[in-house]
Amino acid sequence: MEQENKIREAGGNQNVLVVNRRSFFGALMAIGSAGMGAVLAVPVLRYVLYPLYAKAAGTEWSDVGKESEFADSKEPVRKTITFTQRDGWREVVSSQSVYVSRDESGQLAVLSAICPHLGCSVSWQAGNNKFVCPCHGGEFKSDGQHIFGPPPRAMDRLPAQLKEGKLQVHFEYFRSNVPNQEKIS
Ligand code: FES
Repeated sequence: MEQENKIREAGGNQNVLVVNRRSFFGALMAIGSAGMGAVLAVPVLRYVLYPLYAKAAGTEWSDVGKESEFADSKEPVRKTITFTQRDGWREVVSSQSVYVSRDESGQLAVLSAICPHLGCSVSWQAGNNKFVCPCHGGEFKSDGQHIFGPPPRAMDRLPAQLKEGKLQVHFEYFRSNVPNQEKIS
């Protein structure tokens, strides 16, 4: 019988590995199988690990209220909305406050109540006709424009739409304390 791997002495004390044809093809197939396995593993790993590197994000439009509810409003109206976020493999239902206001052109605008400075909750002060943040005294106009204090930008305006007579919003989070709106989830 043919020997698989034979070590023979080649002069003096030197050992030489003799590899026959069968073991050579065996090794080649093993390397090929390992390569194929690695290639096939990549998409599977990407699928399995996707929730770990995917940003948590709202997955839906949230109802804010009927359009008619805001038709005659002269000042911002505070509403609480709920939405679903993905956190890894979990889905988390969150709620946040928003203000329905009007922009410069009179269109409905939905503003996040999260202060763009350090994240406190901004409140509307009807008597003073402005938003005020209780933490460091940031102030904003009714359309969200920054007018005073440390916040580096206006209140964050959220994507909104009118659908079947309802105002809907897509809630998003933005980086705090930077001059431009940078979406983080
Ligand atoms: S957190 Fe609103 S002014 Fe600082």
